[in-house]
Amino acid sequence: MMSVKSLAESLNLTTIPSTYTFINNPRDLETVDLDNPDEQIPIIDFSLLYSSNPHQRSKVISDLGKACEDWGFFMVINHGVPKEVMDSIIEGCRGFFNLSEEEKLEFKGKQVSDPIRYGTSFHASAEEVFFWRDFLKVIVHPQFHPVNKPPGFSEVCFDYCKKTEKLTQKLLEGISESLGLEASYIDKAMNVECGLRYLAANLYPPCPQPEIAMGMPPHSDIGLLTTLIHNGIDGLQIQHNGKWVNVNTIPNSILFNIGDHLEILSNGKYKSVVHRAVVNNRATRISVAIANGPSLETVVSPAPKLVDNEAHPPAFTGIKYKDYFQIQQANKLHRKSCLDSL
Ligand code: SIN
Ligand code: FE2
Repeated sequence: MMSVKSLAESLNLTTIPSTYTFINNPRDLETVDLDNPDEQIPIIDFSLLYSSNPHQRSKVISDLGKACEDWGFFMVINHGVPKEVMDSIIEGCRGFFNLSEEEKLEFKGKQVSDPIRYGTSFHASAEEVFFWRDFLKVIVHPQFHPVNKPPGFSEVCFDYCKKTEKLTQKLLEGISESLGLEASYIDKAMNVECGLRYLAANLYPPCPQPEIAMGMPPHSDIGLLTTLIHNGIDGLQIQHNGKWVNVNTIPNSILFNIGDHLEILSNGKYKSVVHRAVVNNRATRISVAIANGPSLETVVSPAPKLVDNEAHPPAFTGIKYKDYFQIQQANKLHRKSCLDSL
């Protein structure tokens, strides 16, 4: 199937093919709240997690817990990941998508478990309507899979993954504590040391009819915690209090969001919030997500400490991460369909 990049560059497209029409009537779009100051994604100052002042530290843990409970998303500042490393991964991904179609197709893969997969939409063979998005997915942990084109790209990927690893681990510790669990609970119970992490680079070319197309449909993320950055072009919207809220990220911050498996582990206290990516007709948007998950063999179930049969009965049954991953990646992406079926 043709990439969206090639499609967008082919002829002087003024209307999109009907197979990309996600919204039939633009007026059906749910409300997007643009500038209500109360509708701001919580901001977490990462440096305070290391604070020697116990009050400051417990305040940031409680802010983290509140962000997870109320929004499922938070923006991290003072995270220690150098700006050059963030810029390099974005530019590295741009370089990859700028390769010829023939070169990129070498990375097409055959099945969803392939460690490197270049493609378009989400899972095009299961979809009737396609998304205005090309992607590259790479498993970067427990084994790092190098994408050997263009030159230097694999080193840049490795560097970005390494630099965000400690940050993610510390945040998971803070989240554990905010749930009243031992700081190392998530790490140990989910075997994060052998956890599956994949990097997903998303390319959303300018779209001639952005109001009826969709970059990524409403969905929740797989795994424990997603790390997300982009090239300064907004487009992410999250569902909050029944509305779509535009995420206007602070420059150089890193966005994190709760995945389905943290919702399971927290026995539903923290929700994996539904979000989507809209497109525009002005500029190419690039985003880079890392999905941080448990190890493939981990059976994820609610933390026993968060379950009591009267007030908080178990909200989910256990599922092996490997099975969930396979189901989620090989089907249509649709809201919380995978989680809701548990
Ligand atoms: C995603 O939800 O995986 C991508 C979101 C984005 O492009 O901002
Ligand atoms: Fe997502």
